[in-house]
Amino acid sequence: MSTDNKPPMPASATGIGDRPKKRSILDRHKVLETNATLLLIFSFLVVTIGGLVQIVPLYYLENTIEKVEGMRPYSPLELAGRDIYIREGCYTCHSQMIRPMRDEVERYGHYSLAAESMYDHPFQWGSKRTGPDLARVGGRYSDEWHVDHLRDPQSVVPESVMPKYAFLENRMLEGEHIGDLMAANRVVGVPYTDEMIEVAQADFAVQADPESDHDALLERYPGAQVRNFDGQPGISEMDAMIAYLQMLGTLVDFSTFTPVPSR
Ligand code: HEC
Repeated sequence: MSTDNKPPMPASATGIGDRPKKRSILDRHKVLETNATLLLIFSFLVVTIGGLVQIVPLYYLENTIEKVEGMRPYSPLELAGRDIYIREGCYTCHSQMIRPMRDEVERYGHYSLAAESMYDHPFQWGSKRTGPDLARVGGRYSDEWHVDHLRDPQSVVPESVMPKYAFLENRMLEGEHIGDLMAANRVVGVPYTDEMIEVAQADFAVQADPESDHDALLERYPGAQVRNFDGQPGISEMDAMIAYLQMLGTLVDFSTFTPVPSR
């Protein structure tokens, strides 16, 4: 403490709290903060550098989607089911993306690969999980379970908050527009061939009819499951939905897949 008797000076005049005279980096930064044009130019520079650091490496990758065995465009019936899945907003409660974390992998199976959603337009990843992730639900339950569950979820899972979708059974499908939907998907990059689009409506019917000759269908869509999914005559939205659900996560052959550490 000082020992002289001068009256105390107002804080503003004492210099208490002033920064040391040496210009620190913060002082220099102050120039930017008080000059709008400079701030704009430097912000732009920082964003540009940050952007380039993220984007440039992508140009040196041959492909950001890993090569996998088995992934193929959806069959007409599966695609119709997917369309209903989107129409009904199933994605508001279900994601289709298993994250590479141990709890998820133990619960749902192998984490999702980019390749598995390469034919999804729009993608169904999502982060909202009121219900479980569905990326690998294919083959986990029987068709009958799905019929019961979609009709009345509480009949098989009493505590479920999932709504009933029994009406899917009564809405019959002819598949007359499925070729158009495939053509639209082709515009955004799904490799449907002219032949696939031409015979789309026939393929649509064949997949739901186990009595039919489905060799050509299986050639076009390897691994497609052919049966009467809802057990009722005719093709209903229930058939399409279950065909879609039973396919989810079953296409990629994981026995031939080796992850690349950089991805
Ligand atoms: C309001 C949220 C909600 C909506 C919308 C919803 N679900 Fe669910 N779903 C759930 C919940 C919660 C569960 C877990 C309990 C159960 O099995 O019913 C579930 C479970 C499921 C399961 C079983 C998954 C498993 O691994 O056990 C399937 C399949 C499923 N839903 C399909 C659908 C489909 C298809 C639609 C759209 C037609 C849909 N869900 C819409 C909430 C929802």
